[in-house]
Amino acid sequence: MNNSQIKAAALQARKGGQRIACLTAYDYPTARLLDEAGVDLLLVGDSLGMVVLGYPDTTHVTMAHMLHHVAAVARGNQKALIVGDLPIHSYGSPAQALENAQKLVAAGADAVKLEGGVRQADKVKSIVDAGIPVFGHMGMLPQRVLQEGGYKKKGKSEEEFEAILDGCRALEAAGVFAIVLESVVADTAQRLTGALTVPTIGIGCGEKTCDGEVAVITDLVGAYPWFVPPFAKPQANVSADVSAAVRWYIEQA
Ligand code: KIV
Repeated sequence: MNNSQIKAAALQARKGGQRIACLTAYDYPTARLLDEAGVDLLLVGDSLGMVVLGYPDTTHVTMAHMLHHVAAVARGNQKALIVGDLPIHSYGSPAQALENAQKLVAAGADAVKLEGGVRQADKVKSIVDAGIPVFGHMGMLPQRVLQEGGYKKKGKSEEEFEAILDGCRALEAAGVFAIVLESVVADTAQRLTGALTVPTIGIGCGEKTCDGEVAVITDLVGAYPWFVPPFAKPQANVSADVSAAVRWYIEQA
């Protein structure tokens, strides 16, 4: 196993045990701060499109964007597992998924993430077979926000539970080391966590319903005041501090 596979396997082995703390990072200073603070996993998520690049959703993010930001995060990181998101339209076939996963790894990622279940299993397998760990993503899939007409809560019915479970099981069989569950109702997230053998990492799924948590760093530190998801738990108010510092600077200049 290479170092990236060892780090991913160590996180996978924490299923049901020590909780897994994941945060997004998009640049060198943030990656360095989060890694030095001891976060387990740095996700260079395609949320980059919204909270850094100013697009309305993640469907504008390209491989060029991801490669640029994965490289910056890698320069700031020593220990955490770096996961680079495969952006929309970058994993249409197993061959394309593998080619783009290898580009993210060459830029500094340890692992890649892609959205969806049963339909993505062959792409996951082609990447995993090439030695690159894959992080799954089920529940609300932001790359489908335009088709779905908004960000909707998932797992509200037994049929939805079964569909998400089928997708997660297909991802497990294809070899993912963990699965993000996004905006899944708490009971369903808890049932999925109990049914799966790989760790689930929740966002917007309620308190401790999964084996770990992932948050968008700007939500955690209050650095993107124009949209704050209802489940965010800001622990700082960076945007207010920046505004105050700049007002002070303008007054004394
Ligand atoms: O892009 C991202 O930041 C994500 C997380 C919200 C899981 O996919």
